[in-house]
Amino acid sequence: MSKINGCKGMVWNCAKLMPDPTECVTIVIFQVLGCTGSFVYLLFRTVLAEAARSGTGVGLYLIEHDPFEKMKTSRPISFGLAVSMLMIGCDQTTVKDDARLEEVLERVEVLEKHGSYTPALGNIMITLQAYHTKLYYAGMQQNWELASYFTHELEETLENVQEHHPEHHEVDLDRLVTEMAFPALEYMEEAIGKKDADEFERGFERLTNTCNSCHAASGYSIIKIRTPENGDFLNQRF
Ligand code: HEC
Repeated sequence: MSKINGCKGMVWNCAKLMPDPTECVTIVIFQVLGCTGSFVYLLFRTVLAEAARSGTGVGLYLIEHDPFEKMKTSRPISFGLAVSMLMIGCDQTTVKDDARLEEVLERVEVLEKHGSYTPALGNIMITLQAYHTKLYYAGMQQNWELASYFTHELEETLENVQEHHPEHHEVDLDRLVTEMAFPALEYMEEAIGKKDADEFERGFERLTNTCNSCHAASGYSIIKIRTPENGDFLNQRF
């Protein structure tokens, strides 16, 4: 499409500035030179004009070898030709830019398609379950830095629930996360900040209750989360 526009522009420029078909052919040939070629030609014309005015031998030589003088093209038309070539030459760049833009837009479309992958709520929950367990062991080992890290991961995972599944079977999960889960996490963060093991255990119990309250509120009381026991989930050092 942009290529067609480029060609239209070329014919239009040609017809407007060069009514003579010979000149029109010349301009098409010069178009091959592109933008740089057109600049060079404009420069050539300027040097020519200066040299001719100074009346030096170089000036006379250049006049003799100016293709447009040979064609008996008048000065304004010759200048118009140069400008037109410049416009067309630069128009070529626009055509190239348009093609590149089209290519980029196509790639954006592909990326958007891949980026629109939505994790299933069940998958997000299993992630929550893993962080919930890891948080417990980190806290029980009084590794407060690691406990704080897992609390943050829980928060981010709950934000994923809000972003990807704000509603599930007509239950407002977005609101439940804000009203139930976030306050429990804040309590947890405070306990970790204080490096208080008892408070951590209380906070963890509260968090576990929140998981189950939300399951009940959203019609999934079948899913019962508990405090990990017997050091299960042992594929990581806590
Ligand atoms: C905002 C409400 C809400 C909160 C808070 C919540 N859950 Fe869930 N959870 C759900 C819903 C709804 C489902 C059912 C998902 C489905 O339909 O696949 C679920 C399912 C689950 C499942 C079953 C996933 C499976 O496919 O095996 C687990 C495990 C789970 N949640 C763990 C947790 C843990 C651990 C917490 C707390 C850290 C938690 N959930 C907090 C709403 C919540």
